[in-house]
Amino acid sequence: RPTYDLVIAANRLPVDKVVGDDGEVEWRRSPGGLVTAMESVMRSQPGAWVGWAGDAGEAPEPFDEDGIHLHPVPLSAEEVRDYYEGFSNDTLWPIYHDVIVPATFHREWWSSYQAVNQRFAEAVAEVAAEGATVWVQDYQLQLVPTLLRKLRPDVRIGWFNHIPFPPVELFAQLPWRAQLLEGLLGADFLGFQRQADARNFVRACRQLLGAQTKRDRVTVEGSRRQVRAAAIPISVDFQGLEELAKRPDVMARAREIRASLGDPEVLMLGVDRLDYTKGIRHRLKAYEELLSERRIGPPEVTLVQVATPSRERVDAYRLLRGEIEQTVGRINGELGKIGAPAVHYLHHSYPREEMAALFQAADVMLVTPLRDGMNLVAKEYVTCRHDLGGALVLSEFTGAWHELHQAFACNPHDIEGLKQTILRAINTPAKDKQRIMKALRRRVSDHDVQRWAARYLAALAAAPELPQPEP
Ligand code: G6P
Repeated sequence: RPTYDLVIAANRLPVDKVVGDDGEVEWRRSPGGLVTAMESVMRSQPGAWVGWAGDAGEAPEPFDEDGIHLHPVPLSAEEVRDYYEGFSNDTLWPIYHDVIVPATFHREWWSSYQAVNQRFAEAVAEVAAEGATVWVQDYQLQLVPTLLRKLRPDVRIGWFNHIPFPPVELFAQLPWRAQLLEGLLGADFLGFQRQADARNFVRACRQLLGAQTKRDRVTVEGSRRQVRAAAIPISVDFQGLEELAKRPDVMARAREIRASLGDPEVLMLGVDRLDYTKGIRHRLKAYEELLSERRIGPPEVTLVQVATPSRERVDAYRLLRGEIEQTVGRINGELGKIGAPAVHYLHHSYPREEMAALFQAADVMLVTPLRDGMNLVAKEYVTCRHDLGGALVLSEFTGAWHELHQAFACNPHDIEGLKQTILRAINTPAKDKQRIMKALRRRVSDHDVQRWAARYLAALAAAPELPQPEP
């Protein structure tokens, strides 16, 4: 079997299965940010990607696609329920996102999480070449670094957390908090979105494991190893996405979208996975109040909310969907007009071209999460605005806000404040908005995903193998 110098391990493979009418199976690149980010790394050096293909049951045989070796890891129906929907998305996800909904703790879910992490570690050990670089992704695979180190002490192991790392007061609720920290400490380097996330991790090691820490380093007990935890915020493929947004057919589609909405004076847009972390309810509440106070209204102003289906078998997500759809129905019923609904709600996912067109069509982009590791939608929006049009309303509780300070900042919990910010984003003179957009775009183009990957891999390569001498 061939082995690879670079191996990525992520819960999902970067492709989605598409079954044609003739029953023929095809794999298509998935649209997510993580995939786009990693793809640009893989293009510069051949590598393998270990991940789940998205269906319960037997996994397909390993195959090559677009120059990447894909190595599927099977999950049984019980594991999808316990490891993926359960422990990853009903235990860790809420704890890591400030307990916006309560977390659920089940010992069977934890067992399943351990078993699946072990399977991922074994799959990586199989495809990694001698001395390979292994890059583990996200909260679903936090035990992989230590499990892999036991199997393959020769490889260099990095882990990157795409979501927040919670304050120790919240992390401490996890009955398996020590095992999770120890799982991560098998890595040589741990990457986070914000400095606060890296600090939370180091503090958790000190307070919950009694580990020795110094600034951004944690010393692993019983070994001479030191692990560094630092912030390297992820980004978008600025050049690739901008090129797409400049395509004449995409720009024409943007005009067509506006026309089909009746050419409103102000088109507002929300684009999110349908997730309670995204602050969709708060956004709708602010919008509804602005409408009922007659400060704005259709047909002059309208809102398009794209809510991509997500994790639909987890209760909190099912409940949220019901609530959002009821709210949208109420707003349209009470405040819409014939031919001019107040909210256009779309529960679909769209291809990249359509998203780029929507971004260009939108005068005000509403990114209002209650907590978000980064939020790549904010960066995608400014990347697509090569015309310097549009305004970005951005929650202070996103990783993106730490880089995009010039955006119209909001605290989504403060509905009155959010309303003011939305009005400001609408009413600020075009010249000032252009200046802001220019600054936002400069930040993203200087810190694009290629630079992110290069910085991450350099930090991983430079990670200390032996403790630094005491000064
Ligand atoms: C977040 C996570 C990713 C995850 C994605 C989609 O961005 O950080 O790891 O893949 O959401 O969620 P899903 O559960 O569908 O993979």
